[in-house]
Amino acid sequence: MTKISNYDEFNYDYRKYWEGRDYEDKAEKIVLKRYLSNYKGKFFLDIGGSFGRNLPAYSFINETPIILDYSLETLRKNKESILAKHPGTRLIAANAYHIPLKGNSLDGSLMVRTLHHIEEQERLFEEIRRVTKNKGLFILEYANKLHLKARIKWLLKLEFENFSTRPYQQPTKGHFEGVKDGEQAIFLNYHPRNITKLLQKNEFKILKSTNCSFFRINFLKKALPFPVLIALEKIFQKLLSWTNIAPSIVLKCEKIGEKKNETFESFEDILCCPGCKGNLELSKAYAKCKNCEKIFKQEDGIWDFRI
Ligand SMILES: C[S@@+](CC[C@H](N)C(=O)[O-])C[C@H]1O[C@@H](n2cnc3c(N)ncnc32)[C@H](O)[C@@H]1O
Ligand SMILES: [Zn+2]
Repeated sequence: MTKISNYDEFNYDYRKYWEGRDYEDKAEKIVLKRYLSNYKGKFFLDIGGSFGRNLPAYSFINETPIILDYSLETLRKNKESILAKHPGTRLIAANAYHIPLKGNSLDGSLMVRTLHHIEEQERLFEEIRRVTKNKGLFILEYANKLHLKARIKWLLKLEFENFSTRPYQQPTKGHFEGVKDGEQAIFLNYHPRNITKLLQKNEFKILKSTNCSFFRINFLKKALPFPVLIALEKIFQKLLSWTNIAPSIVLKCEKIGEKKNETFESFEDILCCPGCKGNLELSKAYAKCKNCEKIFKQEDGIWDFRI
């Protein structure tokens, strides 16, 4: 069975992870802002969206922003603050391998800092292809296994096998995201060629690629004032993205396809059974699959479509 990084299994507040990480947060927001500068859409999905850190980048330019996350607790805890700042956002607890949305229903989607928790990347990309409209947007951030520090370390240790295109499992020590202490976390870094291949196979054309978070090194973050770090980050993103030496890479992709897109009116119109993809019979509190008869609950405005 595919392992899932289940943040609900223990008391891990992901919001806390961001305390003291203003530089990384800003570095990512710079790229998102640039990628979304001329964008407007209707249904936009944040896959593994958690407490909505990235909402400011996409919420006001989309009619219906949707956060999907496996952690129902995270959605529950953050619902009020999300809706206070971004009214109209829809919240779905679901497994990204089984997205409860109809085929070709999304104008765009975003997945930041989530692919490192995904054991079966091929399956996930197939699912994202299925839900994305032709010519739809997909922004993907992933952890880059070829970042400068790793390259130097592996060369010094003569660990040449690590340069292969296979995902690299980061040592669990120090990572608590989605795992209990002492357990092996799913924490994968990827080779850019591997990601390109997976995207192309799933009909996504890469329009832009940006290296991000060049200065994710503690002594630099302490030594340089924040505005200087950010100014340098902007310059490095522009000049050095071709190198793939930064720890994080952000891609802007477009789904290729000639087929005409269907029009969906409301959020309820695009929901479907996450298992068999059948149509749903919807009421305020429940959704019943007309095909496999599975029942899903909506509580306090949050759908629970986890399977
Ligand atoms: C490191 S956090 C990133 C959150 C957010 N994207 C950000 O950049 O701030 C990863 C998130 O992915 C979610 N996640 C992990 N595996 C998932 C899966 N299979 N389906 C849905 N969400 C998943 C976790 O619950 C967690 O909230
Ligand atoms: Zn079903």
